[in-house]
Amino acid sequence: MMSSILQGAHILATGSAVPDLRVNNRHLSQVVETSDEWIVTRTGIKERRILDDKDESIIDLASLASARALKKVSMDPLEIDLIILATSSPNDLFGSASQLQAKIGADKAVAFDLTAACSGFVLALVTATQFIQNGSYTNILVVGADVLSKWTDWSDRSTCILFGDAAGAAILQACPKEKNGILGFQLNTDGRKYKQLSIPYEKDNETSYHQTLKITQGKFKYIKMDGKEVYKFAVSQVPISIMQCLDSLKISTSDIDWLLLHQANARILDAVAHKLSINSNKLISNLSKYGNTSAASIPLALDEALDNNTITSNDKIVISGFGAGLTWATIVIQWKC
Ligand code: COA
Repeated sequence: MMSSILQGAHILATGSAVPDLRVNNRHLSQVVETSDEWIVTRTGIKERRILDDKDESIIDLASLASARALKKVSMDPLEIDLIILATSSPNDLFGSASQLQAKIGADKAVAFDLTAACSGFVLALVTATQFIQNGSYTNILVVGADVLSKWTDWSDRSTCILFGDAAGAAILQACPKEKNGILGFQLNTDGRKYKQLSIPYEKDNETSYHQTLKITQGKFKYIKMDGKEVYKFAVSQVPISIMQCLDSLKISTSDIDWLLLHQANARILDAVAHKLSINSNKLISNLSKYGNTSAASIPLALDEALDNNTITSNDKIVISGFGAGLTWATIVIQWKC
């Protein structure tokens, strides 16, 4: 891969944002029949943030995360060439990235959405990397943002305990080939299993008539999930993807400094690390505070780990996203500051 690139790519800065409202497990036990003990034991989640202000949207979170990343490197938004917004909960089905472009004043940037649920941020990062490594663009803003609280069935205790709202951003910048920080990737999809985790479009019972047209319409409803199957999928497929990616780069698991997995469930994180014989003290996790924030979970955890100096210069980080689609995606980066 390195031999065919025109220029290197590296992450210059990250930023993140979460809503103010904290909902802990005790609060949830007043909404559905559950308990703090059950949720912590089965998932590792203690609380999550929920966007409740009717005037705030996913764009407010995404723009705050982006502004924080830009501020860290004093970058003018007009320097951004491209914005990729990974989200599965846009506030406009035609796409929300253009609203983000307008809100942060990145007037020269092309902007589009990328929908791949909890793998969205990794797929967006890989997409952005192509545009940089082939010489098309210099600065790309990659944002993972989701507000799955808007699509959660708050009477379904098997799903409503899992998710939270957040946004995370990363600025990817061109650099000399020798400084390339995006080492490789491995991507997968298995559409046959899409029903295991989805927000299906459901037809209305009534058919609308308009003059001669007979039209059946419907709407998107709530998250539906087969938790056991999704659990088995993640624990079996993610280690395979990581090993394939590391093998292609001739990197051994012992060379890895950090394992940053989509923050879905503490048991999944531990099981994947165990299968890879990676010590659990190399796992980056902030799941207990935010729950599963879908496309935001990886950049949110990455931003926190960089801010508190957990990740330091030259560290190699394996990042894997997995979820609805089903999709799963691994990227290996080396942190260069
Ligand atoms: N509180 C208390 N009990 C609950 C509960 C809750 N919030 N949710 C489910 N239960 C009950 C079930 O009704 C079931 O009761 P029963 O035995 O009387 O039928 C029991 O707990 C066990 O349910 P089960 O679904 O087998 O639990 P589990 O051990 O598989 O854990 C998940 C459920 C959702 C935590 C687990 O399957 C999981 O994490 N899956 C992966 C989900 C995920 O990460 N999705 C996103 C990927 S991006």
